[in-house]
Amino acid sequence: MASNRVKTGISGLDEMLQGGLPENHIVLVMGSFGTGKTTLGLQFLVEGLRQAEPCIFISLEEDKDSIMKNAATFGWDLTPALEAKKLGIFKLEPSDAKTTIMRIKSDLPKFVKSFGAKRVVLDSVSLLNMMFSDENERRSNLFNLCQLLRTTGATSVLTAEVKDDNPRSSRDGLAEYTADGVLLLQSDENKEGGEVQLTIRIMKMRRTAHSRRVKPYSITDKGIVVHAGADVF
Ligand SMILES: Nc1ncnc2c1ncn2[C@@H]1O[C@H](COP(=O)(O)OP(=O)(O)OP(=O)(O)O)[C@@H](O)[C@H]1O
Ligand SMILES: [Mg+2]
Repeated sequence: MASNRVKTGISGLDEMLQGGLPENHIVLVMGSFGTGKTTLGLQFLVEGLRQAEPCIFISLEEDKDSIMKNAATFGWDLTPALEAKKLGIFKLEPSDAKTTIMRIKSDLPKFVKSFGAKRVVLDSVSLLNMMFSDENERRSNLFNLCQLLRTTGATSVLTAEVKDDNPRSSRDGLAEYTADGVLLLQSDENKEGGEVQLTIRIMKMRRTAHSRRVKPYSITDKGIVVHAGADVF
Protein backbone atom coordinates (compact mmCIF):
# COMPACT_ATOMS: atom_id res chain seq x y z
CA MET A 1 0.00 0.00 0.00
CA ALA A 2 1.24 3.45 -0.86
CA SER A 3 2.27 5.45 2.21
CA ASN A 4 0.87 8.84 3.10
CA ARG A 5 2.62 11.76 1.47
CA VAL A 6 4.07 14.75 3.22
CA LYS A 7 4.03 17.72 0.86
CA THR A 8 7.32 19.57 0.65
CA GLY A 9 5.48 22.70 -0.46
CA ILE A 10 7.91 22.97 -3.36
CA SER A 11 5.86 22.96 -6.49
CA GLY A 12 7.32 20.67 -9.10
CA LEU A 13 9.15 18.61 -6.50
CA ASP A 14 5.91 17.27 -5.01
CA GLU A 15 4.91 16.39 -8.54
CA MET A 16 8.18 14.43 -9.07
CA LEU A 17 7.51 12.68 -5.75
CA GLN A 18 3.93 11.77 -6.64
CA GLY A 19 2.53 13.99 -3.92
CA GLY A 20 5.41 14.48 -1.50
CA LEU A 21 7.88 12.66 0.71
CA PRO A 22 6.61 9.34 2.07
CA GLU A 23 5.56 9.89 5.68
CA ASN A 24 8.18 8.96 8.32
CA HIS A 25 10.96 8.83 5.71
CA ILE A 26 14.41 10.27 6.35
CA VAL A 27 15.48 12.08 3.22
CA LEU A 28 18.98 13.30 2.51
CA VAL A 29 19.27 16.49 0.46
CA MET A 30 22.79 16.67 -0.88
CA GLY A 31 24.54 19.22 -3.01
CA SER A 32 27.51 21.55 -3.14
CA PHE A 33 27.56 24.95 -1.43
CA GLY A 34 24.88 27.41 -2.45
CA THR A 35 22.65 24.90 -4.23
CA GLY A 36 19.76 25.64 -1.85
CA LYS A 37 19.93 22.80 0.71
CA THR A 38 19.12 25.05 3.68
CA THR A 39 16.39 26.80 1.70
CA LEU A 40 14.79 23.47 0.78
CA GLY A 41 14.83 22.43 4.44
CA LEU A 42 13.25 25.69 5.57
CA GLN A 43 10.62 25.52 2.86
CA PHE A 44 9.71 21.99 3.94
CA LEU A 45 9.16 23.26 7.50
CA VAL A 46 7.23 26.33 6.37
CA GLU A 47 4.82 24.00 4.54
CA GLY A 48 4.44 21.98 7.76
CA LEU A 49 3.77 25.12 9.79
CA ARG A 50 1.17 26.14 7.22
CA GLN A 51 -0.57 22.86 8.05
CA ALA A 52 -0.21 23.56 11.81
CA GLU A 53 2.30 20.72 12.31
CA PRO A 54 4.98 21.05 15.02
CA CYS A 55 8.39 21.39 13.32
CA ILE A 56 12.01 21.30 14.46
CA PHE A 57 15.06 22.80 12.80
CA ILE A 58 18.39 21.47 14.11
CA SER A 59 21.23 23.67 12.97
CA LEU A 60 24.97 23.18 13.16
CA GLU A 61 25.65 26.07 10.85
CA GLU A 62 23.59 29.17 11.44
CA ASP A 63 22.25 30.43 14.76
CA LYS A 64 18.58 31.11 15.38
CA ASP A 65 18.72 34.79 14.39
CA SER A 66 20.46 34.11 11.15
CA ILE A 67 18.03 31.30 10.28
CA MET A 68 15.11 33.64 10.88
CA LYS A 69 16.64 36.40 8.78
CA ASN A 70 17.42 33.91 6.06
CA ALA A 71 13.80 32.72 6.04
CA ALA A 72 12.52 36.29 6.00
CA THR A 73 14.29 36.95 2.68
CA PHE A 74 11.92 34.38 1.18
CA GLY A 75 8.91 36.02 2.83
CA TRP A 76 8.69 33.41 5.61
CA ASP A 77 8.07 34.94 9.03
CA LEU A 78 9.01 32.28 11.60
CA THR A 79 8.34 34.44 14.69
CA PRO A 80 4.66 33.52 15.28
CA ALA A 81 5.42 29.78 15.04
CA LEU A 82 8.37 30.12 17.41
CA GLU A 83 6.29 32.04 19.93
CA ALA A 84 3.44 29.55 19.66
CA LYS A 85 6.00 26.75 20.23
CA LYS A 86 5.00 25.15 16.93
CA LEU A 87 8.56 25.62 15.73
CA GLY A 88 11.68 24.68 17.66
CA ILE A 89 15.13 25.78 16.55
CA PHE A 90 17.93 23.79 18.15
CA LYS A 91 21.45 25.11 17.63
CA LEU A 92 24.46 22.86 18.14
CA GLU A 93 27.95 24.31 18.38
CA PRO A 94 30.43 22.49 16.15
CA SER A 95 33.28 24.28 17.94
CA ASP A 96 32.44 22.61 21.25
CA ALA A 97 32.51 18.94 20.34
CA LYS A 98 32.28 17.55 23.86
CA THR A 99 29.14 19.49 24.85
CA THR A 100 27.60 18.95 21.45
CA ILE A 101 28.04 15.19 21.51
CA MET A 102 26.45 15.10 24.94
CA ARG A 103 23.50 17.18 23.71
CA ILE A 104 23.05 14.95 20.65
CA LYS A 105 22.97 11.86 22.80
CA SER A 106 20.82 13.19 25.61
CA ASP A 107 19.04 16.56 25.13
CA LEU A 108 18.17 16.22 21.47
CA PRO A 109 16.25 12.92 21.73
CA LYS A 110 14.24 14.32 24.66
CA PHE A 111 13.57 17.54 22.81
CA VAL A 112 12.41 15.87 19.59
CA LYS A 113 10.14 13.47 21.45
CA SER A 114 8.55 16.00 23.79
CA PHE A 115 7.95 18.44 20.94
CA GLY A 116 5.82 15.94 19.04
CA ALA A 117 7.37 17.10 15.77
CA LYS A 118 5.85 16.00 12.48
CA ARG A 119 8.78 17.45 10.52
CA VAL A 120 12.45 17.63 11.43
CA VAL A 121 15.29 19.24 9.50
CA LEU A 122 18.95 18.70 10.36
CA ASP A 123 21.34 21.15 8.67
CA SER A 124 23.86 19.66 8.11
CA VAL A 125 24.69 16.04 8.74
CA SER A 126 28.17 16.73 7.31
CA LEU A 127 28.95 19.13 10.15
CA LEU A 128 27.40 16.75 12.65
CA ASN A 129 29.63 13.93 11.46
CA MET A 130 32.68 16.13 11.90
CA MET A 131 32.03 16.07 15.66
CA PHE A 132 33.14 12.46 15.77
CA SER A 133 36.73 11.64 15.22
CA ASP A 134 36.42 8.02 14.36
CA GLU A 135 34.43 6.33 11.66
CA ASN A 136 32.72 3.84 13.96
CA GLU A 137 31.44 6.52 16.30
CA ARG A 138 30.23 8.53 13.34
CA ARG A 139 28.40 5.57 11.93
CA SER A 140 26.75 4.56 15.21
CA ASN A 141 25.74 8.14 16.01
CA LEU A 142 24.10 8.56 12.62
CA PHE A 143 22.39 5.21 12.98
CA ASN A 144 21.05 6.13 16.45
CA LEU A 145 19.88 9.52 15.27
CA CYS A 146 17.99 7.98 12.36
CA GLN A 147 16.44 5.39 14.68
CA LEU A 148 15.32 8.18 16.97
CA LEU A 149 13.81 10.13 14.09
CA ARG A 150 11.96 7.06 12.85
CA THR A 151 10.44 6.31 16.26
CA THR A 152 9.11 9.87 16.59
CA GLY A 153 6.96 9.35 13.50
CA ALA A 154 8.29 12.58 12.02
CA THR A 155 9.33 13.00 8.41
CA SER A 156 12.91 14.26 8.27
CA VAL A 157 15.18 16.11 5.91
CA LEU A 158 18.93 15.92 6.47
CA THR A 159 21.21 18.14 4.40
CA ALA A 160 24.70 17.05 3.36
CA GLU A 161 27.62 18.46 1.48
CA VAL A 162 29.04 16.45 -1.38
CA LYS A 163 32.59 15.30 -2.08
CA ASP A 164 34.66 17.73 -4.15
CA ASP A 165 35.75 14.99 -6.51
CA ASN A 166 32.40 13.18 -6.61
CA PRO A 167 29.33 15.41 -6.44
CA ARG A 168 27.06 12.36 -6.32
CA SER A 169 28.34 11.19 -2.98
CA SER A 170 27.98 12.90 0.39
CA ARG A 171 31.21 13.99 2.07
CA ASP A 172 31.16 11.07 4.50
CA GLY A 173 29.59 8.59 2.14
CA LEU A 174 27.40 7.38 5.01
CA ALA A 175 24.04 9.10 5.13
CA GLU A 176 22.92 8.13 1.63
CA TYR A 177 22.88 4.51 2.75
CA THR A 178 21.11 5.17 6.05
CA ALA A 179 18.51 7.52 4.57
CA ASP A 180 15.29 6.28 2.98
CA GLY A 181 15.58 8.79 0.19
CA VAL A 182 18.18 10.96 -1.49
CA LEU A 183 17.63 14.17 -3.44
CA LEU A 184 20.62 15.49 -5.35
CA LEU A 185 21.00 19.21 -6.08
CA GLN A 186 23.59 20.14 -8.67
CA SER A 187 24.83 23.30 -10.24
CA ASP A 188 25.92 22.74 -13.81
CA GLU A 189 28.27 25.35 -15.19
CA ASN A 190 28.39 24.02 -18.72
CA LYS A 191 25.15 25.57 -19.83
CA GLU A 192 25.38 27.56 -23.05
CA GLY A 193 25.88 31.27 -22.50
CA GLY A 194 27.91 30.66 -19.35
CA GLU A 195 24.84 30.67 -17.13
CA VAL A 196 24.72 28.18 -14.29
CA GLN A 197 21.85 25.75 -14.34
CA LEU A 198 20.55 24.23 -11.13
CA THR A 199 19.18 20.71 -11.42
CA ILE A 200 17.48 18.29 -9.07
CA ARG A 201 17.00 14.55 -9.25
CA ILE A 202 15.65 11.85 -6.99
CA MET A 203 18.48 9.34 -6.55
CA LYS A 204 16.61 7.08 -4.17
CA MET A 205 13.22 6.83 -2.47
CA ARG A 206 12.52 3.57 -0.72
CA ARG A 207 9.18 1.82 -1.03
CA THR A 208 7.81 4.08 -3.74
CA ALA A 209 7.85 4.71 -7.46
CA HIS A 210 9.29 8.10 -8.43
CA SER A 211 10.57 10.09 -11.34
CA ARG A 212 14.24 9.59 -12.27
CA ARG A 213 14.30 12.57 -14.60
CA VAL A 214 16.70 15.42 -14.01
CA LYS A 215 14.73 18.65 -13.62
CA PRO A 216 15.85 22.29 -13.57
CA TYR A 217 14.99 24.45 -10.57
CA SER A 218 15.37 28.07 -9.55
CA ILE A 219 15.86 29.79 -6.22
CA THR A 220 13.44 32.72 -6.24
CA ASP A 221 12.42 35.34 -3.68
CA LYS A 222 9.63 32.93 -2.66
CA GLY A 223 11.90 29.91 -2.29
CA ILE A 224 12.70 26.98 -4.55
CA VAL A 225 10.66 26.29 -7.65
CA VAL A 226 11.24 23.02 -9.54
CA HIS A 227 10.37 23.19 -13.21
CA ALA A 228 8.94 19.69 -13.41
CA GLY A 229 7.47 20.27 -16.85
CA ALA A 230 10.81 21.31 -18.33
CA ASP A 231 13.73 19.16 -19.42
CA VAL A 232 17.41 19.83 -18.91
CA PHE A 233 19.40 20.63 -22.02
N1 LIG B 1 15.97 35.76 -1.43
C1 LIG B 1 16.61 35.07 -2.40
N2 LIG B 1 16.19 35.13 -3.67
C2 LIG B 1 16.79 34.43 -4.63
N3 LIG B 1 17.86 33.63 -4.43
C3 LIG B 1 18.33 33.54 -3.19
C4 LIG B 1 17.73 34.25 -2.10
N4 LIG B 1 18.40 33.94 -0.99
C5 LIG B 1 19.36 33.09 -1.36
N5 LIG B 1 19.33 32.86 -2.68
C6 LIG B 1 20.22 31.96 -3.44
O1 LIG B 1 20.31 30.74 -2.72
C7 LIG B 1 21.67 30.42 -2.45
C8 LIG B 1 21.86 29.88 -1.04
O2 LIG B 1 20.95 28.90 -0.76
P1 LIG B 1 21.18 28.00 0.53
O3 LIG B 1 21.79 28.78 1.62
O4 LIG B 1 19.90 27.34 0.78
O5 LIG B 1 22.24 26.98 -0.05
P2 LIG B 1 23.02 25.83 0.71
O6 LIG B 1 23.09 24.70 -0.24
O7 LIG B 1 22.42 25.61 2.03
O8 LIG B 1 24.45 26.47 0.86
P3 LIG B 1 25.61 26.09 1.91
O9 LIG B 1 26.23 24.81 1.44
O10 LIG B 1 26.54 27.23 1.78
O11 LIG B 1 24.98 25.98 3.25
C9 LIG B 1 22.39 31.72 -2.52
O12 LIG B 1 23.73 31.51 -2.87
C10 LIG B 1 21.62 32.48 -3.57
O13 LIG B 1 22.09 32.12 -4.85
MG1 LIG C 1 23.18 25.70 3.97
